[in-house]
Amino acid sequence: MGIDQHIDQTRLPKHVSVIMDGNGRWAKQRGKLRTFGHNKGVKAVRETVECAAEMGIEYLTLYAFSTENWNRPQVEVNALMTLLVKTINKETKTLMDNDIRLNAIGNLNSLPKSCFKELNEAIEKTKDNTRMTLTLALSYSSKWELIEAVKTIAKNVKDGELNPDAIDESVIDQHLCTLGIPDPELLIRTSGEQRISNFLLWQIAYSELYFTDKLWPDFDRKDFEAAIIDYQGRERRFGKISEQVSA
Ligand code: IPE
Ligand code: IPE
Ligand code: MG
Repeated sequence: MGIDQHIDQTRLPKHVSVIMDGNGRWAKQRGKLRTFGHNKGVKAVRETVECAAEMGIEYLTLYAFSTENWNRPQVEVNALMTLLVKTINKETKTLMDNDIRLNAIGNLNSLPKSCFKELNEAIEKTKDNTRMTLTLALSYSSKWELIEAVKTIAKNVKDGELNPDAIDESVIDQHLCTLGIPDPELLIRTSGEQRISNFLLWQIAYSELYFTDKLWPDFDRKDFEAAIIDYQGRERRFGKISEQVSA
């Protein structure tokens, strides 16, 4: 399927990040268990990944499980972890066929062993793919990431390896899990919630935010394209005035 003609291929965001939200409500509306919604959400992941890659997006980051999500009922956490293993296993071939590199950010050591193993195998297998980098945020939260960064930076200062006066934006960037990935120009959140939920706080300092009422399992390539079109209609001023930007 071709890309929507309203999309200007020369002005694509390099990096799009997505807070995939609304699986539970989608299932509830149908009188089903929340896990039914998570299972259905996999199709939306596949469609979004394929659409982004076809379009020419270089980096796609999906928020799949937050640090705070560990506090959900144990059955739901278990179901999500099982789904994760199953999906990564099943989709690795599609990633290879589409030349997509898999990456993960978050406290990956906190994942069950089977998840950790499956994830690392897929990351290793896809590491030479170059069309798009797909990053899954798993057991991720921005405050966790920033605490880890601050700890490392503090140790470097203590060991005399870093002068505190030399700490600038790039030093912070280098200590985040997103090292080497440009900041997202666009952040999409589904399900009508208008909050960030501890996702990429530093990296989205200047991102365009796009909220849609669509629940994640209903999100499809048309919705992804609509978000890109909306993004392309915005003026990004970075503190300047409109006349400076258009000049
Ligand atoms: C997003 O859907 C998936 C995860 C957070 C893992 P939710 O499970 O949060 O669905 P709602 O928000 O309860 O509808
Ligand atoms: C955010 O969704 C985390 C993911 C999408 C993985 P939540 O549904 O957990 O967020 P809150 O708790 O409603 O803010
Ligand atoms: Mg939610």
